[in-house]
Amino acid sequence: MSDPPPNSRLPGFYRLPLEQRQAELARQVGLSAEDMAVLASGGIAPAGADRMVENVVGIYAMPLGLALNFVVNGVDRLIPMAVEEPSVIAAASNAARMVREGGGFSAQADESIMTTQVELRDVADPARASEAIANAHAEILAMANHALPRLLARGGGCRDLEVRTLPEKRLVVHLFVDCREAMGANMVNTAAEAVAGRLAELAGARAGLRILSNLSDQRMVRVSGRVPFSALATDKSPASGAALASEIEAASRFAEDDRYRAATHNKGIMNGVDPVVIATGNDWRSIEAGAHAYAARDGRYLPLATWRVEHDGLVGRLAMPMAVGTVGGTLQVHPGARLALHILGGPSARELAEIIGSVGLAQNLAALKALAGEGIQRGHMALHRRAVGER
Ligand code: MEV
Repeated sequence: MSDPPPNSRLPGFYRLPLEQRQAELARQVGLSAEDMAVLASGGIAPAGADRMVENVVGIYAMPLGLALNFVVNGVDRLIPMAVEEPSVIAAASNAARMVREGGGFSAQADESIMTTQVELRDVADPARASEAIANAHAEILAMANHALPRLLARGGGCRDLEVRTLPEKRLVVHLFVDCREAMGANMVNTAAEAVAGRLAELAGARAGLRILSNLSDQRMVRVSGRVPFSALATDKSPASGAALASEIEAASRFAEDDRYRAATHNKGIMNGVDPVVIATGNDWRSIEAGAHAYAARDGRYLPLATWRVEHDGLVGRLAMPMAVGTVGGTLQVHPGARLALHILGGPSARELAEIIGSVGLAQNLAALKALAGEGIQRGHMALHRRAVGER
């Protein structure tokens, strides 16, 4: 029998001394002596860091906290967040408690399909070249898969390709590769390099760049969450909850109509997304790049999440690329990342994307609720004063 999922609703957790919080975490998810040492040290020693990057002179540490109250697709999850900004973890926990009252987050992540690009230059006849590549579809996929034997053995591989036309006699070929549990950057770059020569030959062209696209729009996560008015009520009356819900919808519409506001709205979402991406050893620069490219996909920069009043509640919906993995890369070398996945209950890559998207939506709700109500500064500054040691 598998262990019961942890209970992510832990009232008063924030008031416990640090050691007791660690003990509660250990009680919830089971922690070994090594795990406890990872919590104390941050996971890597200078010698380990020295093997990860170049010119290492030390370690740069960040706090790791737990966001509480999350239910994603019916499962309680304790959320590890590596973040330096005060109030982010408290805000996410607070918003997740409200969404919990509406049944928790519903989230669906796509299969782990990465997009990689091969640029073709000096294409004499783009239409004929596109046709030649389309006719060689099976050959190209087989060639890409031949370069990825380990991925193939794990049930992944190159699933499809498309050809796009660019100005100045250029084509770009996209390969779509199912990377299963991995983020997959190295694998898809290998695939792109493996097929570039043959694609150039077919197109009568010169191969240009061969590299993944961080606009992972085949690897999206979609999340929704509902907050009943009663959970938003400021004075116990459902009417005050309904009024605040309307204000939050108005804040969402502001971001939908104005890119200056949309940038900040999305920054609030990334306040939730990045700390979980970082804690789990994933590449947050790629997630950031994908998020903002997706936000501007139609030539207008739009919010990644929106809110509407529907019946007796406030409903939020988020959609964004989420190329995250649970094997390979940093995970192989960073015990802190492995511990974070353990705290999350050992999710699959798709479940991890669903969890991260849910944290992003929660963070957005928390920010809009504060902005629509008392403003952000009161709570924020109280926590900031605590962080800098003022009373
Ligand atoms: C601060 O880190 C994030 C917010 O500015 C987000 C927002 O305005 O929605 C509060």
